[in-house]
Amino acid sequence: TVRVLRTVKEVRAWKKKFQSIGLVPTMGALHEGHLELVQRSMAMNEKTLVSVFVNPSQFAPTEDLSTYPRTLEADLASLERFGSNVSVFHPPVSEMYPCGISTNIDEQIGAFVSVDGIGSKLEGQFRPHFFRGVSTVVTKLINICAPRYTYFGQKDVQQTVVVRRLVNDLFLPTEIVICPTVRESTGLAMSSRNIYMDDTTRFKVAPNIFKALCAAENRYREMAQTEESVSAQVIKEAGLKILEATPGIQIEYFEVSDPVTLDSLDTVSSAAKASQPQHPEQWTAIISTAITLPGRDRRVRLIDNVVL
Ligand code: PAJ
Repeated sequence: TVRVLRTVKEVRAWKKKFQSIGLVPTMGALHEGHLELVQRSMAMNEKTLVSVFVNPSQFAPTEDLSTYPRTLEADLASLERFGSNVSVFHPPVSEMYPCGISTNIDEQIGAFVSVDGIGSKLEGQFRPHFFRGVSTVVTKLINICAPRYTYFGQKDVQQTVVVRRLVNDLFLPTEIVICPTVRESTGLAMSSRNIYMDDTTRFKVAPNIFKALCAAENRYREMAQTEESVSAQVIKEAGLKILEATPGIQIEYFEVSDPVTLDSLDTVSSAAKASQPQHPEQWTAIISTAITLPGRDRRVRLIDNVVL
């Protein structure tokens, strides 16, 4: 059975015995996307610590903190296959936020970390304090266990950009590793929130998100064969055409952005025409989108992206 650590003190004592550990931060409700990160960490480190913590400071009062799936027993069962090289850190909220935490930003007290500028673009426009919450909890987790490597999924691409900047600017002693997005057979990016959709929406409607991103990427690749740079407007139109024709989808944004500053681009150089880049240093542009769809109880918000 997978060992569950619940306090900072326990993690520090556990970690002393090992040369190198990998950290996989999660909010639980584990699916194959999460397990891909664990797999990668297993291959690169002596031990892997998977944190399972639904972080209150990254939820707005209007968001799904109270209903976010909490499935620790199932999560532990799905980690069994990795054997004793994986442990879980599942702290109570009071352990991570010793002086308390509120979902209302005006009532929050204590130390926070924020990556300004890039944290307020794209997702930040719709979830104003989200990345402050993410940056704070990721800093805490890294400081608790001092991992050699820390793993994130490309699925949440802005999160990877923000966390890389956080680690770089604050000299946090870890290296960020980004793993490819794992998808359902329809192309829909796996997400703990996919269960909020009924079957028709999940299997017939939501897959158009990735179809739209692929159409945008393909338009770029075609144009980049002959042009030195490609108009972002043209790239966006290829994707928007599909989303706008999909009943029920409301688009929050569909953007072509600089991979470092996250500024909206007018043109994309054809540097990425050949193939998808592996390392974030080689990213030429990010095409990312956020949409909402009708869910079982209320609208579901989904994000996805491709990189050029
Ligand atoms: P969570 O949504 O649980 O995701 C945990 C990690 O799994 C993130 O790095 C996310 O990008 C990755 N992930 C999720 N779905 C994926 C998929 N389909 N393919 C590949 N990777 C995927 O992201 C968070 O939690 C939180 O913000 C956290 C970083 C834990 C801070 O609270």
